[in-house]
Amino acid sequence: MKTFGILTGGGDAPGLNAVIRAVARRSAPRGIRLLGIRHGWKGLLSKETVELDARAVSGILHRGGTILGTSRTNPFKSPDTAAAAQENVRALGLDALIAIGGEDTLGVAARLSAAGLPVVGVPKTIDNDLSGTDVTFGFDTAVSIATEAIDRLHSTAESHDRVIVCEVMGRHAGWIALHAGMAGGADHILVPERTVDVEAVCASIRRRRERGVMFSIVVASEGAVLPEGEVTKDAETDAFGHVKLGGIGERLAKEIERRTGFETRVSVLGHIQRGGSPTAHDRVLASRFGVHACDMVARGEFGRMAALQGNVVTSVPLADATKTLKRVPAEYFDVARVFFG
Ligand code: F6P
Repeated sequence: MKTFGILTGGGDAPGLNAVIRAVARRSAPRGIRLLGIRHGWKGLLSKETVELDARAVSGILHRGGTILGTSRTNPFKSPDTAAAAQENVRALGLDALIAIGGEDTLGVAARLSAAGLPVVGVPKTIDNDLSGTDVTFGFDTAVSIATEAIDRLHSTAESHDRVIVCEVMGRHAGWIALHAGMAGGADHILVPERTVDVEAVCASIRRRRERGVMFSIVVASEGAVLPEGEVTKDAETDAFGHVKLGGIGERLAKEIERRTGFETRVSVLGHIQRGGSPTAHDRVLASRFGVHACDMVARGEFGRMAALQGNVVTSVPLADATKTLKRVPAEYFDVARVFFG
């Protein structure tokens, strides 16, 4: 009997359980034993596992989070843990390892694969910034939640003649801000790909007032960059060297109020965008990725990541998917700008 291992790493995203269920449902009729590795790469280092039989994956399709738990552990932080991770794939008797994650988790998967281990990746991130795939699961859910929030902010902003800055997630790419901002009819969208011009934002808020529109909604990615740099919570970094972002919304709201004299509030959506039930779109995409990942293992397509291109699920090399981040192209942003002000 063959044994496949599966793990979820990095920030959670709605749809992770749908992938786990899909892999289990595809594997079971083929007589494959599925072993869940708890808490991402951390569980591989401690060999913390759980059997994923039919019962274990029943009733999880609609559930947010991950039944396996997750972490931001980086086994390549030290040569000892890197060696332990490789050794433990063998010690656990894994014929294949399916890693579900974003740039960091799949970056580790790419390195393990380069070391000769049978690894396959599945793209996950609400930020939608992984290369090689048109879209990642989790993104649609995050955008839906943020769009609903922007709709709600509109009615209160309008009632009070206020400016409201809505800070959404998106560390290095502005996909959530752009899509939710466009879908929610935001008056300005600020993304990490373009340095924020606060004066231009204020000027167009003033122009709206002159036209008699007394409220404005500004959507900003947490990673939006001011001329003086990105806004961080503290100097601390995670195991992959990322700083904790946060505070851009607050900073912008203060600055807009100071420069325009208009009452301004901030709403930081934070982890609400990542929690809870996945949308139908994300459940289907995650299920397709899970089935495909299993089939990739069966075909011996190791060192690759399942990917959506057009409406076809295919695969790309893990090394290519994790080389550079997929950021919002200038021409896409220019379409969104048509609706500003
Ligand atoms: O990478 C996904 C993401 O949601 C980013 O948008 C955000 O910066 C980060 O994770 C926050 O993660 P956590 O609070 O779990 O460290």
